[in-house]
Amino acid sequence: MKVLVTGGAGYIGSHTVKALRRAGHLPIALDDLREGHEPALLGAPLVRAAVQDRAAVERVLREEHVEGVMHFAAYCYVGESVRSPLAYYENNVLGTLRLAEACAAAGVRFFVLSSSAAVYGEPDRQPIEEEIPCRPVNPYGRTKRVAEELLADLAAASELRPIFLRYFNAAGADPDGELGEDHRLETHLIPCALLAALGRRPALSVFGADYPTPDGTCVRDFVHVTDLADAHLKALEFARSGGSCRAFNLGNGRGFSVQEVVDAARRVTGGDFPVAQEGRRPGDPPVLVASSQRARAELSWQPRHGDLDEIVRTAWDWYRRHPNGYC
Ligand code: UFG
Repeated sequence: MKVLVTGGAGYIGSHTVKALRRAGHLPIALDDLREGHEPALLGAPLVRAAVQDRAAVERVLREEHVEGVMHFAAYCYVGESVRSPLAYYENNVLGTLRLAEACAAAGVRFFVLSSSAAVYGEPDRQPIEEEIPCRPVNPYGRTKRVAEELLADLAAASELRPIFLRYFNAAGADPDGELGEDHRLETHLIPCALLAALGRRPALSVFGADYPTPDGTCVRDFVHVTDLADAHLKALEFARSGGSCRAFNLGNGRGFSVQEVVDAARRVTGGDFPVAQEGRRPGDPPVLVASSQRARAELSWQPRHGDLDEIVRTAWDWYRRHPNGYC
């Protein structure tokens, strides 16, 4: 299938482009390269345009006879979304709206949206199931929820079959070592720990040790980026066989604390990088762990890289080989 992958030169997008090619599909990346990296496409075709550029998007959908869209292009930092909410609505909501218009005009039916655990907010029951009410607590989570709702409303009025994939903590890197995580503004735990191990940051800050968790640090569900990529292929098949407007959590169903991640990063890197204990980071829920039963049952999705050390090791291998990222 010809698949347009918005944000295809980004972290999860590029791993998915690779997985699509490997499975015999024909991905076309659409990326304005503000955040993405052309080398991450490994030679896959690129249309250099913003997702808000409806005319450019519609043109490629029509000219290339695209049947499916995977929509990754979005801003993804909770803290930044609190400081610059309108930029998030512009990029994440308006971008999805323009893309949806182009899909409707070009008759694209299959659509996989990159959504997030951030749509749930701070639920009091764990592991999190898809049925619980979505009560996002920050602009980032709200933009993802609005994107889901917008697509669901369009699906009710058209042939579009959107699938919503709610990732927990995406982590790790391509086990072949070709792709990795290279963000403009790195704030995620595992990359920050590895950058400290490489000496590119003076220390890893640990935000909060007084949470109601076994060791006092926050607990998260880390899911390998290659497993996320695989879930996108399965979601496409699900839409193709009639599925529509279904949300799926993507996580391993197992939580690891920030301290456990620090320990894993020390084991994998063999280094005793400095850690600075800081206060809580505003907006961090104590525990976020997925129930991914629905994805396992309905998509036949089976994460293959759930081991924390393996997740950290694949990320570390890439950082060691690419100490300056893709440049
Ligand atoms: N953390 C540190 N030090 C750091 C970075 C993070 O202690 O340098 C802690 C955070 O406080 C948090 C945990 O590590 O407790 C995980 O933080 P990340 O920033 O790696 O990830 P988040 O859980 O905040 O964010 C992830 C996704 C978001 C998504 C969110 C859903 O990256 O896109 O889950 O709540 F919105």
